[in-house]
Amino acid sequence: MSTNNVITILLVEDEDFDVRRVKNTIRLFAERLQIADVVSNGRAALDLIQKKADKYDVVILDYQISGGLRGEELIRKIKEVDPFIQIIVITKMTINVSDYEFASNLLKSGAFWYCTKYPGNIEEYIYQPTDFILSIFNAYEKKTLEKHKLKADRRLMQNVENLLEAKKLIGESKPMVQLREAIEKYAKSDVNILISGASGTGKELVAWNIHLKSRRRYEKFVPINCGSIPHELIESELFGYEKGSFTGANAMKQGLFEVANNGTIFLDEVAELSLPAQVKVLRVIQDGEIEKIGRTGSMSVNVRIIAATNKNLATEVNEGRFREDLYYRLNVVPLDVVPLRQRGDDILLLIEYFLEFFSSDLGVAKPIVDPRAHEILLNYKWPGNVRELRNVVQRLVLNCTEKITAKDVSNPMILHNHILTKDDSNFDDMSSGQVLPLREMERIFRLRYFKYVRSISSSDSNAAEKLGLAPSNFYRMCKELGIK
Ligand SMILES: Nc1ncnc2c1ncn2[C@@H]1O[C@H](COP(=O)(O)OP(=O)(O)OP(=O)(O)O)[C@@H](O)[C@H]1O
Ligand SMILES: [Mg+2]
Repeated sequence: MSTNNVITILLVEDEDFDVRRVKNTIRLFAERLQIADVVSNGRAALDLIQKKADKYDVVILDYQISGGLRGEELIRKIKEVDPFIQIIVITKMTINVSDYEFASNLLKSGAFWYCTKYPGNIEEYIYQPTDFILSIFNAYEKKTLEKHKLKADRRLMQNVENLLEAKKLIGESKPMVQLREAIEKYAKSDVNILISGASGTGKELVAWNIHLKSRRRYEKFVPINCGSIPHELIESELFGYEKGSFTGANAMKQGLFEVANNGTIFLDEVAELSLPAQVKVLRVIQDGEIEKIGRTGSMSVNVRIIAATNKNLATEVNEGRFREDLYYRLNVVPLDVVPLRQRGDDILLLIEYFLEFFSSDLGVAKPIVDPRAHEILLNYKWPGNVRELRNVVQRLVLNCTEKITAKDVSNPMILHNHILTKDDSNFDDMSSGQVLPLREMERIFRLRYFKYVRSISSSDSNAAEKLGLAPSNFYRMCKELGIK
């Protein structure tokens, strides 16, 4: 009995004698137990429950009442109207079916408890009073718990929805559409996933999305950057230790696998895991067990592992830096996040998205981007991918007023390495340090420049357009340069 609220009861009983017996049975607790209404048939009961939403906590229901609507059917209907109401059934002793079958049917239709009425010669009580009263209190407790649970579930759901909105993956290009489809598909299962992609492409965001769409979404998502933890500490970070297991272990420490139990662990930069730590991670995957430092025996955990790397993990395996068995265990489903420059107009969508985000964050009007500025941003190579774009847009919002112009964008403070990066303008590099005839140098320049423009274009005709060439000229020049 957790609260002292009054428990409001609806009594459905058609015999005055039994109404009196019920009232008398709970009389001692009249302060807490209040029979608010008494009705004699199912229809009237249902009407009241419908009209006075949320009024009754408990229905005490006689099984054998007159009228068509009664018994299991009535119980189901009441629960449909208000699933939180708890129903206690009282019945005459003369039941034909076996007790077990009868009780089981009642409970299946949604009753909380049932008891058989005392015989008619016991005039004071309907049932043993303590048990009867306790069952009403318990019914009320159950109602309260169910309500709390619903509230908590709603809050959790809301949290997940807010997170999904905050972690939205922007992009309509083919690779992004495919990536989203893969996320939907694999999130539902529990398979381990290896996400590969260059720095800043959105690997962590992908991992978040998988978690938030999985069955584990109400549990923890625990990201850990394997590259940022010193090798000698990684095991204690991942698996924890017992108090006193080594000098300085003054208290027990939970490892991240334990923290993530039932949820998802995100092993970022997984290629940086030391070989001994790799063995232990393999153990978790194979046996679902962790070995805590200083603890005899192991502990079971249930975690889904999502790993990410911007290295080629297969190469790491070939060169002996990464265990092959672990590689296959992590790489059950490989997801590749392509560089931003291969996502075409997603660049514009992302610019819009971050403009909106940062201007509303700063409380300023969203600036308009001039077409020439768009052009530059669209043609830029984005070596730092989405993270770089996000930073660029943030700087633009901070520095510009209503309009973002080509000049704003070309400012070296904004695009740090504008199209002519050092690589592209360095003559030593282009001609291996020799001085070449102009024609030859032009050829080398064209070759590189064409290759570059093609790499950031969605098609050859798009590349031709960027270069200001008719497609036929573009094809001819490519042929002359030996590209194709
Ligand atoms: N498709 C996208 N839509 C919206 N925001 C994105 C998208 N991709 C990445 N971002 C944002 O860009 C930033 C970098 O993304 P994230 O940290 O997921 O990249 P990463 O691949 O894990 O990078 P790193 O390899 O450097 O760890 C984050 O702020 C992220 O929210
Ligand atoms: Mg990351």
